[in-house]
Amino acid sequence: MPLEVVVLAAGQGKRMRSALPKVLQPLGGRPLLAHVLETARALGARRPIVVHGHGAEAVRAAFGDTDVQWVLQPQQLGTGHAVQQALPHLAADAQVLILYADVPLARVATLTRLLEAAGDGVALLTTELDDPRGYGRIVRTGAGRVQRIVEEKDASNDERAIREVNAGLMALGGRRLAGWLAKLGNRNAQNEYYLTDVVAFAVKEGVPVTAVKVEDPLEVAGVNSKRELAMLERALQRREAERLLDAGVSLADPARIDVRGTLECASDVAIDVNCVFEGRVRLGDGVRIGPNCVLRNVTVGAGSEVHAFSHLEDSDIGERCRVGPYARLRPGASLADEVHIGNFVEVKASRLGHASKANHLSYIGDAELGARVNVGAGTITCNYDGAAKNRTVIEDDCFIGSDTTLVAPVRIARGSYIGAGSTINKDTPEGQLTVARARQVSIPGWKPPKKKA
Ligand code: UD1
Ligand code: CA
Repeated sequence: MPLEVVVLAAGQGKRMRSALPKVLQPLGGRPLLAHVLETARALGARRPIVVHGHGAEAVRAAFGDTDVQWVLQPQQLGTGHAVQQALPHLAADAQVLILYADVPLARVATLTRLLEAAGDGVALLTTELDDPRGYGRIVRTGAGRVQRIVEEKDASNDERAIREVNAGLMALGGRRLAGWLAKLGNRNAQNEYYLTDVVAFAVKEGVPVTAVKVEDPLEVAGVNSKRELAMLERALQRREAERLLDAGVSLADPARIDVRGTLECASDVAIDVNCVFEGRVRLGDGVRIGPNCVLRNVTVGAGSEVHAFSHLEDSDIGERCRVGPYARLRPGASLADEVHIGNFVEVKASRLGHASKANHLSYIGDAELGARVNVGAGTITCNYDGAAKNRTVIEDDCFIGSDTTLVAPVRIARGSYIGAGSTINKDTPEGQLTVARARQVSIPGWKPPKKKA
């Protein structure tokens, strides 16, 4: 049986109290819908069908280059109505898996079990909650067979006491789906067409209905409010921290790390507290990250250390480098091996060659530094002339004195020394000392001014 995955993502999520459509709210740095689409892909779905409606344009724009079948549900008349909109796109002989964009943490292994349990019949994902409020309840017969699902707003007091809840995720044989959806009514407390009503139809027709119960309540947790979103965020981060610990990464505190993307660590990596990793970050053997650092799309080579409060983005760091504390690497910073970048040094779109150092208070932008260059404190590349960006080239073995201003475009030839406090706007010759500043004079007989009486 081919597999079709339908993702319900049309709801507004009023309780989020946000202008951003619910399915675009970020969890672990990615929209809720992205998590569910990734799950669909991992299950081998042909091309997920996404039923969207609220904030349709924003939702489509956020997933512009993702291969999905968009289906519009202009009015949100209920989960059953939402699946109806997807019907024309479903192969008749397929097995259909319904996912909710606001239930993002169901595991692939669990959903595989759900699909196996369903076969040509129906299977539901359920769990027991101490506090089942807000969820549909699973009503079973005395003999324990699933009978139907009742929504909280339609439930009697006895039914509300049921602690087994519906995750909303459902697998069913596609052959019967169209018939059941056509029979749905909306005479209920919310005047909605409930997908959950198909369970009672199946039972009535003698089609087997299986409940696949999961232990981990996170797998079925729905996001309806910022509180729930924050709760899931912490849970997701906890999972990620445990994965890192299991892989041998040392975390100073597994409760104080945030991975909003993918973090790959080689062996003996140590990460101090309060670090944020975004996008794709790769840390080589023995890398140490100090406290309170942010790394976004960064590669750090083996043996390098990033000290406290550094902010690194779209950059490459070689092996045995020392970066920070308080360093800023902006997009396009590329450090060869054994480079040192110290406090309050900003590097943008620049390459620093082997063992070059900029240890204090500098801006290096649109520059190319060779090997063993020493950049003195306070040195600035003036890369912008008000209209265009210009490049600075500093060849191997140069020594740039403190507080040098390099007015680009300019080339500092191999082995140049630049006297401290120079403003350099012409290329310098190889191996010479260049000084460009007013000569120091002292005035003999000078007297300080006196205040008039
Ligand atoms: C639903 C289930 C409930 C289950 C709970 C789990 C029904 C009737 N109820 O309730 O049994 O315990 O999820 O989280 O199915 N959606 C649409 N179009 C619509 C309505 C909803 O696409 O017209 C989407 C929403 O965007 C959301 C999902 O379907 O992703 C669930 O809708 P929601 O309104 O949150 O359903 P619940 O009331 O939580
Ligand atoms: Ca919900």
